[in-house]
Amino acid sequence: MNEPVTLTISGSIAIINVNNPPVNALSHSVRRGLVECFAKASQDNRIEAIVLYCSGRTYIAGADITEFGKPMKQPSLPQVISIVDSIEKPIITAIHGTALGGGCEVALTCHYRIADKNARLGLPEVHLGLLPGAGGTQRLPRLVGIEKALDLIVSGRKVKLPEALAIKLIDRVFEGDIVKAGIDFANEIISKKLPIRRISTAAVEQPEAAMEYIEQYRRISTKKHRGLEAPMACISAIEATINLPFNEGMRVERKQFLQCMESTQSAAQQHMFFAQRQAANINDLDKATPVRAINKVAIIGAGTMGIGIALNFSNANIPVMLLELNEEILTNGLDSISQYYQTQVAKGRLSEQKAKQLCSLITGTLSYNELNDVDLVIEAVFESMNVKQQVFSQLDQVCKQGCILASNTSTLDIDEIAAATKRPQEVIGLHFFSPAHVMKLLEVVRGDKTANDVLATAMSLASEINKIGVVSGVCDGFIGNRMLKGYGREAGALLLEGAKPEQIDRVMVDFGMAMGPITMSDLAGLDVGYRVRQERRKRGEFVSNYDGAISDRLVEDGRLGQKSLKGYYRYQENSRTPLPDDHVHKLINQIATELGYEQRVISDEEIVKRLIYPLINEGAQILDEAIAQRASDINTVWVFGYGFPVHKGGPMFYADTIGLENILHDLKQLQIKYGDIWQPAPLLQKMALEGKKFCDL
Ligand code: 3HC
Ligand code: NAI
Repeated sequence: MNEPVTLTISGSIAIINVNNPPVNALSHSVRRGLVECFAKASQDNRIEAIVLYCSGRTYIAGADITEFGKPMKQPSLPQVISIVDSIEKPIITAIHGTALGGGCEVALTCHYRIADKNARLGLPEVHLGLLPGAGGTQRLPRLVGIEKALDLIVSGRKVKLPEALAIKLIDRVFEGDIVKAGIDFANEIISKKLPIRRISTAAVEQPEAAMEYIEQYRRISTKKHRGLEAPMACISAIEATINLPFNEGMRVERKQFLQCMESTQSAAQQHMFFAQRQAANINDLDKATPVRAINKVAIIGAGTMGIGIALNFSNANIPVMLLELNEEILTNGLDSISQYYQTQVAKGRLSEQKAKQLCSLITGTLSYNELNDVDLVIEAVFESMNVKQQVFSQLDQVCKQGCILASNTSTLDIDEIAAATKRPQEVIGLHFFSPAHVMKLLEVVRGDKTANDVLATAMSLASEINKIGVVSGVCDGFIGNRMLKGYGREAGALLLEGAKPEQIDRVMVDFGMAMGPITMSDLAGLDVGYRVRQERRKRGEFVSNYDGAISDRLVEDGRLGQKSLKGYYRYQENSRTPLPDDHVHKLINQIATELGYEQRVISDEEIVKRLIYPLINEGAQILDEAIAQRASDINTVWVFGYGFPVHKGGPMFYADTIGLENILHDLKQLQIKYGDIWQPAPLLQKMALEGKKFCDL
């Protein structure tokens, strides 16, 4: 096997190359190779300077995450870095791609850093529930100051070249051949006798002001990152740069790093790192399946979802045509799009010119005939099978051969929709999440007859528009909304039993959800669920009081949620802040009394179990039916589509941390009290009895 780290000599310069595909992670063999090559270069009297660079698509992207949780093989990364830091010859590193985590820490240990114009640097460990563990928390503040270091390390964001140059993270930009650029810079250093610049020997500037800033930052972060351990550990380690000498600071960092590494939060975040990548693998689909070109898209319906979906494509520079029922609704839709772009300009996120260009990519029409040249249509009309079938039958008549026909339905049967066309193989579900231009998830619903290349195209398109695609089979609600049913049902039950909307939402936000279920219903629009229930009633299906009693009454009173400024909560004009509404409290009380529910005080702990355990139970059933390919896909759906806390790893990972036998026990208790809606899923029972975990599958 080829060595992943090699040393070559060019005159008085040693060139160390790292070549460990795919991302040059700092695996054991790389760490060992770095130590050997740096030692040789350091001991060789001919050598006056050392250049470090990487082959392949990127600079070192960090520690090897696949080695986490396994016994540590020497040398550790801090040992490697300490050896590099002791070398008495100038070290230049040339960066391309991404220098992340341990990679960025290696770069910070070198004395000079040059980068090509597309390079990005960052310390994203916090996204893995960690802090930089190889000196990043100690070197970065010494180089860029406390304020910037806190910003970069606690957010984990990647810095592009202009900013990297401005904060002196990078000394110079290079163009052309990376090795030549490194050698040229090394020769310049030698000829100008530029000094060795060890960040570890520098002091943090203005320590008193830095201390004050850190205290204030910690206060804000405690609130902002509520319940998260890693951001707070980052802050503590950075704080050590102010009062402690470098080596002692390194010990603080190490201690915090090892503590985080042992935590459930970090295990959950590491699980999610691999889960979101694993989602792209479709078990029975050849990776070489060709994908169709999507150069123009049409969207049917310019409502809440249609507009958000359109923005995804315009933002990716793909022209979009919006089709509506009448001129007035269409104009309103196009106005919202133009308003969105104006806001982006006002917030400084886009230049006026760019916003204009992106906005002009979206045009409107009232005529299906104009859709004859699009490559993909996404239907986002009312959630009614009749309406959707009519739309698909019209699309079938006008769209060119090879055009993919997708539905954004949140619950309906894709196969039934496909049956309204003569080309069911071109039909697929593309289920976006509200707000569609923000939420990362795209559920890709594979119909019975969906062609393989249609599926492959949808998955590839997902990443083109910066979404995470997860494949789901056809069933009522697919993966996410099918699970949501139990969650929503229990929120309704808890309201009827005496919990207030604001208690339920607070408990779920404390649990870590991006927002509580009641706020979420108001945001999505209560009329969406209302129509679904009406459809169900039309089909003769039973709709329980838990699902509909309160929400139906709110909709019938004109309380549609945020869009009508009142739903479960009140909203002020141009504000998304939910305000408790006494009128709703009284209404709930009245409905509960009418239906014979006794209202009582409900504990926060009961709320967590009543809301989260149905997710787990339904998730187990979905796995058993192969609607989801794997437990980690379910976690990806819930983290990226429903704001489930990433540090709990999604519902199925969370279940593993609670213990399936404990969950089974509680489900059985709830079944005794509330009946068979709590019947434990057979797969969950089986796994609990066998002592297994979902995410080990
Ligand atoms: N360790 C092990 N494998 C890694 C890895 C890492 N640090 N980073 C990426 N990979 C793997 C991925 O799992 C994927 O494997 P697969 O093909 O089998 O699914 C493959 O490399 C390619 O990764 P992506 O699909 O993500 O490729 P992209 O080109 O889209 O992105 C990237 C490249 C920006 C480097 C992205 O992979 C990334 O962000 N990686 C993680 C970076 C990171 O978090 N670094 C910090 C690690 S922790 C650390 O360094 C601790 C230290 O402080 C001690
Ligand atoms: P909406 O009511 O805001 O918008 C629907 C739009 O479709 C309206 O503007 C209406 O005029 C238009 N429309 C209706 N029939 C039409 C037809 N025959 N031809 C052209 N336009 C037509 O509804 P919303 O919320 O955007 O939902 C649309 C779809 O997206 C539904 O299937 C819904 O289930 C799904 N969805 C909704 C989510 C949400 O959070 N609101 C989330 C994910 C999916």
